Amino acid sequence: MIYTQEVAAEVLKIVDETLLSEKEALKKRLSGMNLDYKIRASIHAYVFETEKRKNVIDHIISRCLKGKRIEELDPLFRNLLRVGVYEMHFKGVHPALATDSIVRIVKRRFGEKLASLANAVLRKAELVDLEKEIDKIKRKDKIRYLALKYYHPEWFVEYAIELLGEEEAVKLMIANNEKQAVYIRVNEIKASIESVRRYLEQNKVEVEETPLPDVFKVVSYERAPASLDWHAEGKFVIQDLASAFVAHILNPHPDEVILDLASAPGLKASHIAMLMENRGKIIAVDNSKDRLRRMKSKMKILGVGNIEYKLADGTKFYVGDVDKVLVDPPCSSTGSFRNYPCVKWRFDERKYRETIRVQRSMIKNAFRNLNEGGILVYSTCSITFDENEENVLFASQFFKVEDVEPVIGVRGIRRFGSKEFPFWDKVVRTFPHLHDCVGFFISKLKKV
Ligand SMILES: C[S@@+](CC[C@H](N)C(=O)[O-])C[C@H]1O[C@@H](n2cnc3c(N)ncnc32)[C@H](O)[C@@H]1O
Repeated sequence: MIYTQEVAAEVLKIVDETLLSEKEALKKRLSGMNLDYKIRASIHAYVFETEKRKNVIDHIISRCLKGKRIEELDPLFRNLLRVGVYEMHFKGVHPALATDSIVRIVKRRFGEKLASLANAVLRKAELVDLEKEIDKIKRKDKIRYLALKYYHPEWFVEYAIELLGEEEAVKLMIANNEKQAVYIRVNEIKASIESVRRYLEQNKVEVEETPLPDVFKVVSYERAPASLDWHAEGKFVIQDLASAFVAHILNPHPDEVILDLASAPGLKASHIAMLMENRGKIIAVDNSKDRLRRMKSKMKILGVGNIEYKLADGTKFYVGDVDKVLVDPPCSSTGSFRNYPCVKWRFDERKYRETIRVQRSMIKNAFRNLNEGGILVYSTCSITFDENEENVLFASQFFKVEDVEPVIGVRGIRRFGSKEFPFWDKVVRTFPHLHDCVGFFISKLKKV
């Protein structure tokens, strides 16, 4: 017998204790289990919906814990409480039922003592009037109020308001809490756009066209597209619309040499290979052995045959004489909260500064590797000014900023605090609340 709440709490524990995302943790916990796809979907939903609201759920639990801090609790126990609070406050499960099932699991896993603590906490949690509680905070601390109301960390609320203004920032946070849109990118190495469209139709996946010729937006489905045979056979991939825009901006040709300095898991590299008709050469660099290994096996499935893999540091790797470079570096992932809610709660200022340093080093290294007249496409799935406009401003000391036509998206940020970005009308940004996709930044730079 599988208890959705129990498995979901185990996955949340993995997310808590490791650097794995929800999807990776789900894969790890569910691997080898022969679960019906409906049960899988239910566990998936519990994990995402609970993690998404972690700050407000923890706020409720903290109110109900006498003399203890939530961080002091056993990680599995803590996550079982979170799941219980999610059920009663957000999923519409009757509080007595939610409490009963969590208490039973706790009793079996931890014994009587913790079961009675779970019972006490969840019975108190049931009585918390969340709306009233949050409204009280509104009068004292607006940022904390918005953070709890829209399930975001306080630093993000402040940052987003400074970047976009309050009204737009709230729209962004609301969109971040919605279900992520699913996009299908056809892999023309293995199947035509028309055949994939027909296949999806036959399998009751309703899609609509997007501004990109090889990408469909999923409108509805009976079975998740990622569980269909043609996905397993590499005839299409699940790739976000904005992410798929990047290879089109790079506009690779079959006779070119392309360097991808942060390549794994290879979604963009496989798209570049497809646009090159599997000819020319892509040099795919990544400093993660494991991610590169997974990328290689995925490329086999996709029928990609023009990639040379290099386990190396993309800030230093040198081959020279390349026509185009893609720098899609590690970033804060602040545009991907829908897909990776855990990222919201993992921000670390020191790591953030280090990431920006890596991004700039990769930009400099792209310059070193490029031929005269060569093109660098710099993209991130971050919404911050520092990782995007400010890095392009840095790059403009040695690159010419070229225009990216906003086939999807809007222009960049012109001003952030005291900082000005003169090339705002040459770069492109996408936002979850405006374009129903990941928040991306895309720029194109020419070595002159
Ligand atoms: C945003 S992901 C790249 C996504 C990839 N371009 C795609 O479309 O699938 C960033 C990648 O950079 C890699 N990375 C981080 N630091 C690096 C470094 N110094 N050199 C090379 N790769 C690095 C990470 O392992 C990760 O795979």
